[in-house]
Amino acid sequence: MSIQEDILRLKREKNAVVLAHYYVDGAVQDAADFVGDSYYLSAAARETDKPVIIFCGVRFMAESAKIMNPEKTVVLPDELSDCPMARMTEAAEIAEVRAARSDLSVVCYINSTAEIKALSDVCVTSSNALKIIPRLPSKNIFFIPDQNLAKYAAAHIPEKNFIFGSGYCHVHTGITPEDVSAAKTAQPDALVLAHPECTEGTLALADYIGSTSGIINFAEKSEALSFIICTEAGVLRELKRSCPGKRFFFVGRRQFCPNMKSITLEKLRDSLDTLSPRINMEEALRLRALRPLEAMHALAKRADSL
Ligand code: 13P
Ligand code: SF4
Repeated sequence: MSIQEDILRLKREKNAVVLAHYYVDGAVQDAADFVGDSYYLSAAARETDKPVIIFCGVRFMAESAKIMNPEKTVVLPDELSDCPMARMTEAAEIAEVRAARSDLSVVCYINSTAEIKALSDVCVTSSNALKIIPRLPSKNIFFIPDQNLAKYAAAHIPEKNFIFGSGYCHVHTGITPEDVSAAKTAQPDALVLAHPECTEGTLALADYIGSTSGIINFAEKSEALSFIICTEAGVLRELKRSCPGKRFFFVGRRQFCPNMKSITLEKLRDSLDTLSPRINMEEALRLRALRPLEAMHALAKRADSL
């Protein structure tokens, strides 16, 4: 029996749903029931009726699934798969900024630990930050942890006063403006599609800025035939699938998230077999972290219905 057949059999036996982010290995995406960006996967985790969720992504994603589904078994196939940015905010920083301003919303990029979510007012992802932040009642926004997504959001929401976190994603900040300029010289007809975790200098060269799903949708609908992709290389599987005949170029050797890529087919099969490693969380922490996640889903839904 092949590993793919084993996975299919185990999914049925365990009544499990497999969720995978666009950055995980293509073979793992092929084995998943749902593949998408952070927001889509968070909504899929919230809505599934399966008792077991196998999350092929990084820890904060699986943690968010557990926060919203305390009664379910949530499994992260590699327990070391973690997003370094999720740990780039200190609780003391939040307390300090809160103490200095009463009219403040703490906006937490979903790439954060449960402990940091628990101290925040609302979560956002790169696909809904621009919809959610204008709807917040406070003038002051402390956006944690990603300074690049924060600056991108601030440029689009001038009515708010942003205080920036100091975190960043090493994969996206590794995509330099010099690399992008060189790629544009080599492929002058290609449009540049960038994720807002890239630096301001790289975003200034982009024809389109958006989440992983946004990038894929843009490439699909665009009349252009070639694109320079400024995000993690795992999106190539879906780009090729949804845009037959179009060409995609990457700009350097660093568009690779080692944590996402640590989820392999073998680990997926083993995690289905043993239902481990599991995400467990203290109930008081879970309840505090649930508030900003539910606020995100409610505000994103309201924005979409208008
Ligand atoms: P999105 O899938 O929301 O675009 O986020 C990218 C990312 O870095 C997830 O870790
Ligand atoms: Fe974290 Fe960056 Fe990897 Fe996304 S690509 S999981 S932000 S390190």
